[in-house]
Amino acid sequence: MLDSFFLRMLNREASAPGSGADKIIDALGVKEGEVIADLGSGGGYFSCEFARRVGKTGRVYAVDVKERNLSFVERLCEQEGLKNVTFVLARGKQMDLPEGGVDLAFARNTFHHLPEPVSYFENFRRYLISGGKVAIIEHKPKKGLSFVALFRHYTPQEVILQKMNEAGYSLVESFNFLPGQVFDLFGID
Ligand SMILES: C[S@@+](CC[C@H](N)C(=O)[O-])C[C@H]1O[C@@H](n2cnc3c(N)ncnc32)[C@H](O)[C@@H]1O
Repeated sequence: MLDSFFLRMLNREASAPGSGADKIIDALGVKEGEVIADLGSGGGYFSCEFARRVGKTGRVYAVDVKERNLSFVERLCEQEGLKNVTFVLARGKQMDLPEGGVDLAFARNTFHHLPEPVSYFENFRRYLISGGKVAIIEHKPKKGLSFVALFRHYTPQEVILQKMNEAGYSLVESFNFLPGQVFDLFGID
């Protein structure tokens, strides 16, 4: 009950105009037939949007560590008639994804949850196609009494860059159109 309230709240935030969801997906150049892993899919708003973009010939893997989050996203996909989403329960770095089969990994507000981001993304390389990309979106540091500030619900951009470099990725592009968030796209070195 509380979980689904929280997940609906995540989806309301993700779908609000200020979150720039359409612009994010456009910037990533998502195409029909692609395979996308939504890492830390939460309430699944982006998983569903990606599923519509990649169409019947593509696939989205909604990945989360919480089974109840995945059940919520599964129900949402059923309601929306989306049949091209697979639900993957992650056990730390282990996840049931096709090796060498993922075009894009997308981690929005998830990076700061990862206890060992370097080994996580080092390991993730095995799932990416050659030329595959990883998109990371995190809140910018905030001061004061906001939820993001109080719970350190962010990773500073310099830390993201450093950890991704250590994991063997280089920055392809840094998008600046999200006022409250950093949005970086990485490729494999
Ligand atoms: C703040 S929510 C973000 C949800 C969604 N990406 C969004 O933008 O609305 C973070 C999500 O990451 C999940 N998570 C935490 N650690 C994870 C891990 N190691 N692998 C996959 N998901 C994880 C949480 O269960 C939660 O659903």
